[in-house]
Amino acid sequence: MIEKLVRKVVLGLKPYQAGKPISQLKRERKISQVIKLASNENPLPPSERVIKVLKDSLTKVNLYPDSNGYYLRNGLAKKLKLKRGNIILGNGSSEIIAMALETFVNPAEEIIIADPSFIIYKGLIKLRDAVPVLIPLKDFSLDLSAMLKAINKRTKMIILCNPNNPTGTIIKKEELKKFMKKVPENVIILSDEAYLEYVEDKEFSSAFPYLKSKKPLIITRTFAKSASLAGLRIGYGIAKGEIIEQMNKVRPPFNTSSLAQVAALAALNDKEHLEKTRKNNREEKRYLYQNLKNLRLSYIPTQTNFICFDLKRNAKLLCRRLEEEGVIIRNMSAFNLPNSFARVTIGTHQENMLFIKKLKKVLIKK
Ligand SMILES: Cc1ncc(COP(=O)(O)O)c(C=O)c1O
Repeated sequence: MIEKLVRKVVLGLKPYQAGKPISQLKRERKISQVIKLASNENPLPPSERVIKVLKDSLTKVNLYPDSNGYYLRNGLAKKLKLKRGNIILGNGSSEIIAMALETFVNPAEEIIIADPSFIIYKGLIKLRDAVPVLIPLKDFSLDLSAMLKAINKRTKMIILCNPNNPTGTIIKKEELKKFMKKVPENVIILSDEAYLEYVEDKEFSSAFPYLKSKKPLIITRTFAKSASLAGLRIGYGIAKGEIIEQMNKVRPPFNTSSLAQVAALAALNDKEHLEKTRKNNREEKRYLYQNLKNLRLSYIPTQTNFICFDLKRNAKLLCRRLEEEGVIIRNMSAFNLPNSFARVTIGTHQENMLFIKKLKKVLIKK
């Protein structure tokens, strides 16, 4: 029995349930037209500039990548007005989160996270034999005062998902300021800013200005969302040099591919692509809001590229019906939200129209 050999904590975990790939649904249901609005990907392909550098690099994949990602870290450092030593690259920002936990968290230490928030936190914390301390959201937003109150001697880290997945809400400047003032200096703050580029609300603040403070702060960001590079797996962490130095000890060799590095570097200052992405998101968010309203479905106003909404009936069932119609969205049963909630990624206009058309169909069928 292999179970006897497996770590106890691993026995208790479930594999991460990613949004169903389009190819899987096509295979399973024999449907030719399938759209996926389930994993908060950018519906726009990478820019021509990115595709060109990828093509140019294809012939060099016989060689290992630069394990230190010199050029990409250089580019990021320049853009952020920091030093290369303040940047670490990861196989997606999820790997940066895993590395932060591996570097700093001992068994039995507590990590404070919001609930619901990005689903991988809990599992990664448990894998370290540490304890996730779940703080319920307040009005679908992170409850920073409750998170502060939960700090005790065993607390090692607080993870802020800002904006928060799956609710799309943000932490406001003033709230963050108060919070930062109160967090003790022996508690690490990890600010996961995967959706930063989508935020429209002027009240939002990244944790970036606090890098200068004495607090141990790690910021994680990604090229998977606004830069359209989810399939290449590339993200980065920003922190003081002394933090990055420690994290580099646990970073697997060659953890980011050469293709991911060149593509991310080309995407880094691609303002045109970013503006296209933001424009599509802004306009289509409003289109989806209006149509959800027309269907008398309520939604949580979002600062991201996804919308969490209330189907007012069993979401698992309805999402299954939508899949039969070739539309993949995400029911929120794995997150701690009412079973009528679902999350849809904001797609292209065509995708959103198809989603609304099929949603209407399955709602009527009920
Ligand atoms: C809040 C949040 N953080 C991080 C990630 C992971 O992104 P990456 O693809 O960079 O690992 C996601 C992906 O959905 C996310 O929602």
